[in-house]
Amino acid sequence: MFISRSFMAILLFSVTSFPRHVAAFPRSPLRHIIINSPSARFMSIASNYQSVLERVKKATPPGQSVRLVAVSKTKPLEDLQAAYNAGCRVFGENYAQELVVKVPEMPDDCSWHYIGSLQSNKVNAIVKAVVPASRLTIETVSSIKLAQKLNHAVAEGERLNVMVQINTSGEDSKSGVEPSEATDLCRFIVTECPQLQLTGLMTIGAVGDSSCFDVLRQCRETVQRELGMEETLELSMGMSGDFEEAIAAGATNVRVGSTIFGERDYSKDK
Ligand SMILES: *Cc1c(COP(=O)(O)O)cnc(C)c1O
Ligand SMILES: *[C@@H]1O[C@H](CO)[C@@H](O)[C@H](O)[C@H]1NC(C)=O
Repeated sequence: MFISRSFMAILLFSVTSFPRHVAAFPRSPLRHIIINSPSARFMSIASNYQSVLERVKKATPPGQSVRLVAVSKTKPLEDLQAAYNAGCRVFGENYAQELVVKVPEMPDDCSWHYIGSLQSNKVNAIVKAVVPASRLTIETVSSIKLAQKLNHAVAEGERLNVMVQINTSGEDSKSGVEPSEATDLCRFIVTECPQLQLTGLMTIGAVGDSSCFDVLRQCRETVQRELGMEETLELSMGMSGDFEEAIAAGATNVRVGSTIFGERDYSKDK
């Protein structure tokens, strides 16, 4: 092999100091190699995860506790493993067919948050994929029909965590029940679905509009008061662009994807 020692040194340095080095030398001929090197990508996932975790900790007021859900939709298994090796144990997925493939390949101490819209015909596959059901949270329950379907899918003696999704932004594209319907759906889950554990409320919100976070918090107050709940429901809100504001507004569960795993590529979609 006729590779000079200094070239090797540069290559090693470039790889180990990714991504700072890439940014510093945008036109470097090594850029292509570095960016496409799997080990460099895994290292950046690990450091991104750590830095998001630090930002979450910093934004969390005393007495509040916040779960970081690493949203790994569209990302390959190796990327989830890189995050796992950096300490991540909670993953968020949007597509049933991805979840059922990834879960058995990842260690048993991972828990899973389903954050996509859920069709009734996918319920059984998702619930069966994660055993015991307490390792799974469906964040997107938005109808009585879906709650019933989930309740029936859970094995005897197990309990599946669910959150009720609320359309706080009034946008056509955002699913979820209207804030005024939240109490009825929550009541149905608590009183009629013994296999479900209602753990919180979830919203996606409008980009750049943090008033959605206040709407979700008010929904929680109403639901808890009207149902006379003792325990405090969680608030799932905040993504890459706004998780710190969401935490300041009371989030206990933030869902962060692209800041950890990089931008998603939908171009190869089914
Ligand atoms: C994709 C997705 C996220 C993560 O979004 P990023 O902006 O990549 O952090 C969070 N929540 C839901 C419901 C999503 O679909
Ligand atoms: C969200 O709420 C608004 C206002 O009530 C409504 O017009 C819109 O259709 C809702 N979105 C969905 C997907 O139901």
